[in-house]
Amino acid sequence: YIKRTTAPDIAGRKGGEPIVVLTSYHAQTAALVDPHVDVLMVGDSLGMVLHGLESTVPVPLDLMIAHAKAVVRGSERALVVVDMPFGSYEESPAVAFRSAARIMKETGCGAVKLEGGVPMAETIAYLTARGIPVMGHIGMTPQAVNQLGGFAARGRRRAEWARFEDDARAVAEAGAFSMVIEAVAEALAARITREVPIPTIGIGASAQCDGQVLVLEDMLGLAPRVPKFVKEYAELRSAVEGAVKAYAQDVRSRAFPAAEHTYSTLDEVPAAPKK
Ligand code: KIV
Ligand code: NA
Repeated sequence: YIKRTTAPDIAGRKGGEPIVVLTSYHAQTAALVDPHVDVLMVGDSLGMVLHGLESTVPVPLDLMIAHAKAVVRGSERALVVVDMPFGSYEESPAVAFRSAARIMKETGCGAVKLEGGVPMAETIAYLTARGIPVMGHIGMTPQAVNQLGGFAARGRRRAEWARFEDDARAVAEAGAFSMVIEAVAEALAARITREVPIPTIGIGASAQCDGQVLVLEDMLGLAPRVPKFVKEYAELRSAVEGAVKAYAQDVRSRAFPAAEHTYSTLDEVPAAPKK
């Protein structure tokens, strides 16, 4: 029996060995990734990566719960953090609690994540005071894509920094156990990481953060195109294409299935029926 990593375990890693996070959306990848990471993130990016949506805005709470259940079942060590989808928490702390409680009760995950800084601080405080560990998410916040006008990096001009530093401080003071910083200039990520007492998990936010997260399909080379901040550690797209092409050819030429893939009868084979 291995005790799962907890939100306080992650909070205690500030300034220490970098925290390793990858997304996972289902049991099979969760089992493969679990032994090697500290946190499995069930990101609402699954709406784009798995379901072909143009943004994370339409992702329903029930879909997050279905995928999160599979990730909890498929893993045993890592802390599972589940994204609260757009529309499930912004309205009020009470609405957020109801959604977060459903996620915690129905999936067995160890924490939730929600996007937003100063405007979400009250909600983060409400949840953390009621037994729900919260990971924050600041910088480029994809659920606000319609307000931002795109997924471009933030904080590349110093004039923007104060706002993001206020967000980071508010999230930390509200009781979050860590926060994702997405797509911001290195100097800003470094400042925030120095200023807040909880671990920062960067995605497109430089090596200055206390940990890193990537979308699994992006780093495996399965995505059609990836942002600048992604390093592709494998090229599974071409591997999958090659396998699928070979299979199609084998079926068409009857090379598959061969004898070793075929069941024989166990008793005497009857003579072919007479005509
Ligand atoms: O949705 C997601 O995958 C995320 C992580 C990449 C931070 O929010
Ligand atoms: Na997300």
